[in-house]
Amino acid sequence: MVSPEKQAFFEAQDVALTFDDVRLRTRSGHQAPLPDNLDLASRFSKNVELKVPFASAAMDTVTTSEMAIAMAKLGGIGVIHAGLSVEEQKTEVRRVKHHLNGLINRPIAFDRRRSLESILNECEDRKLDFRTFPVIDENNRFAGLITQNDLDFSEDLQLSVMDIMTPASEVTTADPDTKIEEAYSLMMEHKKKTLPLIDDNGEIAGLYIFSDVARIVRGDEAQFNVDERGRLRVAAAVPTDAEACDRIEEIRGDDGEFLDVAVIDSADGDSYYAFQTLELIKENFPDLDVVVGNVSEGASAGELAAAGADGVKVGQGPGSICTTRTETGIGTPQVTAVYESARAVEKYDVPIIADGGIRNHGDLSLAIAAGASAIMMGGMLSGSKETPGDILVLDNGSRVKMYRGMGSPSAMKASAASRKRYDVKGTGEPLAEGVESYVPYKGSVVDIVDMCVKALEKSMRYVKVDSIEQHQNETLFNRITNAGLIESHPHDVQVVSLKDKD
Ligand code: IMP
Repeated sequence: MVSPEKQAFFEAQDVALTFDDVRLRTRSGHQAPLPDNLDLASRFSKNVELKVPFASAAMDTVTTSEMAIAMAKLGGIGVIHAGLSVEEQKTEVRRVKHHLNGLINRPIAFDRRRSLESILNECEDRKLDFRTFPVIDENNRFAGLITQNDLDFSEDLQLSVMDIMTPASEVTTADPDTKIEEAYSLMMEHKKKTLPLIDDNGEIAGLYIFSDVARIVRGDEAQFNVDERGRLRVAAAVPTDAEACDRIEEIRGDDGEFLDVAVIDSADGDSYYAFQTLELIKENFPDLDVVVGNVSEGASAGELAAAGADGVKVGQGPGSICTTRTETGIGTPQVTAVYESARAVEKYDVPIIADGGIRNHGDLSLAIAAGASAIMMGGMLSGSKETPGDILVLDNGSRVKMYRGMGSPSAMKASAASRKRYDVKGTGEPLAEGVESYVPYKGSVVDIVDMCVKALEKSMRYVKVDSIEQHQNETLFNRITNAGLIESHPHDVQVVSLKDKD
């Protein structure tokens, strides 16, 4: 529950505030000792947890599988953008889900009569980034294994799989109900990197991969944000119409096991269509978490939560590449929008995702103290190695990558989903609500998120809170003036970097 002092602060404001209008108040160590263990665990939606409260934006220059894998490994989550065909989006989501595997329930298996060439072509077409496969015979029974080595050391690609595979008789296998700890012991004992599980009919019932089994059993990578089966968590953006259900059905697979959360992605998240799409998805996939956005009014967030949203995304116009506010005049500044939305959804226990406008690391802590459970970033992560797109070298030698709004002219031209996000009907020239830009190439997103984590932790130590929830409820704000803002940044000096000159 938000403290009465914080409520009083926001109630006293006569204008809507954004990040540069406020700073957090520190607390005296007399009242609260410096926290030893900070817990950054939070939620992206009602049932989808985060180990750090960060998400990558559903944008075509930010999140496909490479970014989503990196974000989940860092403890956050990536939202695969919807500007892809259904097939492409499904492939990207599956790549995240297949990146680590405790137990693969239905491993991809190849018929032993197939040629190596046809298998390599299929791997290429399906963008599979692994090369270990069980082999089956004409009766669907386990016949052997092929691995990366078998494929690498075969000069004749016309050979069939059965000519090069390790036959079933030489493969260590186990029963279908083998637990992960038993699998680990067996694989250690026999020095095997794969362990097929075979049922009474001789058919493949699952597959363990050693690197992933070892990671889970040894707890090496406690920071990874994984589902209950040890696979990285991932979200997918969907448009506000009936196509959303087709997309979800295709992406989730028959048993609904490949998608953690669907994000209804609209510039106007409380439109009639957004509500209708939410209702439709909830009707068809009652056990799937659905986040809806974007809105910037408490009342809108509250209505979405009441209508069944499992998370509400807040931010209309704060984005670095966004022209929504200048083109249309709408949009509540982000700190007030997040605070009011968080208050409105409190009774539904629905998390708020603060989306857009993060310029400085300190804004992350401000967004959480305003009530956000997670923060979605585009600009902050843009230009990193894991974003889609090439590095360009400018005439002056600097390296850049493209970062563009999904409502920019080129993004809307490229994809129907972008046009839908900005509700473009008819055939004329659509109103652009975003711009295209180049940003400096920034190296790996791992270092960027690492700095975000360090800054949030440092901020929480200053204000003496040890959890995201305590930060949301207790941390107090000061409103600052323009003089306070100038004072906040380096001033009256010429900033230089001496890092490389040591
Ligand atoms: P940033 O982190 O400040 O760069 O903002 C990223 C967010 O801006 C995204 O997550 C979207 O919600 C939003 N956004 C993306 N494209 C556009 C656009 O073209 N116009 C307005 N907002 C956009």
